[in-house]
Amino acid sequence: MTSDLERLFEFLRFPSVSTDSTCSGDVRACAEWLVTTAEGFGFDAALHDTPGHPVVIARNAHRAGRRHVLIYGHYDVQPVDPLGLWDSPPFEPEIRDGRVWARGCADNKGQMLAHLLGAGKLLAETGDLPVNLTFLFEGEEEIGSPNLAPFLEAHRDELACDVIAVSDTGMVAPGVPTMDYGLRGITCCEVILRGPERDLHSGLFGGAVMNPATAVGRLIASLHDADGRVQVPGFYDEVRELEVWEREMWAQVPGVTVEDFQSLTGVPGLFGEQGFSPAEQTWARPTAEVNGVGGGYQGEGSKTVIPAEAMVKLSFRLVPDQDPKDIMAKVKAHLEASCPPGVRIEVVPGHDGKPYLMDPHSGDGKAAQEALRTAFGRDAVLIRSGGSIPIVQDFREILGADTLLLGLALSDAQVHSPNENFPVENFEAGIRLNRALLEKLAEA
Ligand code: BES
Ligand code: ZN
Repeated sequence: MTSDLERLFEFLRFPSVSTDSTCSGDVRACAEWLVTTAEGFGFDAALHDTPGHPVVIARNAHRAGRRHVLIYGHYDVQPVDPLGLWDSPPFEPEIRDGRVWARGCADNKGQMLAHLLGAGKLLAETGDLPVNLTFLFEGEEEIGSPNLAPFLEAHRDELACDVIAVSDTGMVAPGVPTMDYGLRGITCCEVILRGPERDLHSGLFGGAVMNPATAVGRLIASLHDADGRVQVPGFYDEVRELEVWEREMWAQVPGVTVEDFQSLTGVPGLFGEQGFSPAEQTWARPTAEVNGVGGGYQGEGSKTVIPAEAMVKLSFRLVPDQDPKDIMAKVKAHLEASCPPGVRIEVVPGHDGKPYLMDPHSGDGKAAQEALRTAFGRDAVLIRSGGSIPIVQDFREILGADTLLLGLALSDAQVHSPNENFPVENFEAGIRLNRALLEKLAEA
């Protein structure tokens, strides 16, 4: 009999990096492993091809009169670079200090496998589950789920459900069960500024032409005021203000003070929109971020050159009721209007996703909190999260169901960074949580 941890290690050994085309065979092998593993517990499982990476669906035998619960997770992971900063190889999982260390252990393989093991062991032991259950596992979440919404449309009838559960978020502090009732949305773009038709000698032409790298700097500077408030006209028009009860509740949540944020990040001081706590700034306020900037000479020493072009990659985290397409149109108009003379601007929109907000006091929300209490032995805290899982709002719009976000990763899980980690005890609690969750949702 394979132990739970051995199974997790098998899962983690697949380098299922969705953005890297050289890994597409590994992504597929990982999906095939999921099919075999789900079948081993008695689920009916199948791999579905898409124009990108495969979707895996697994289900128990559905019976009339029971609630239909859909559980979603993603088996793709982020790239591992910079590889040199890992203390152990990213696809050779190991346990140190009570934590598993490997790419994807927290985001999202450990959390996803806890879903499968919790429900799978209950099915294998008792021969049935209290609900009609469907697992939906995708391999493209980290690249913006380009093929999943069309897949939902095409399988709408079979996937229509009463409620959805997802463990792909975090816990505010060790041992503190955490339910997310909101996620930020996102919209991304790349901005390219082109000036001279080739790199120029900065002595011969500097002073008479606009430097595209300087122009990028001016565009970046135009995004915020001195306090970090976004200056794109109309950006805040649709922002829903925080409710008083949320601010009061969040003031009691552990793990999110100024000091916590400072020690988690190592910054010399926090910086952000005035009048909001760090939790409020990251969970309920929109942002503009520079994710990458490039142009000009990057090598050793100096090279006196005016680069022909320069670029910046931007992303905007969004909150209810901002719409990603509307925000990108406003951003594009702002960038074009703010572009200095002497360069041409091209704004290339990237992927996007809508924000999500549910009522944590709904029947299913309460059932999820009871399951968290059963698994962790204490009351859950209710938060929103700053991260994005774009498919969650699509679930609501296409399948007509709310998503319960039951996070198991810790704040120092280093998701998307070197040395990603996931405590063994959270993995075990996740397995307990999923057994309890199905029982509570059956009655909700
Ligand atoms: N699991 C994360 C999202 C997350 C992390 C939500 C922690 C809440 C708390 C997810 O895998 C992720 O990283 N999503 C991307 C979305 C993007 C690629 C469209 C993100 O948030 O940057
Ligand atoms: Zn994730």
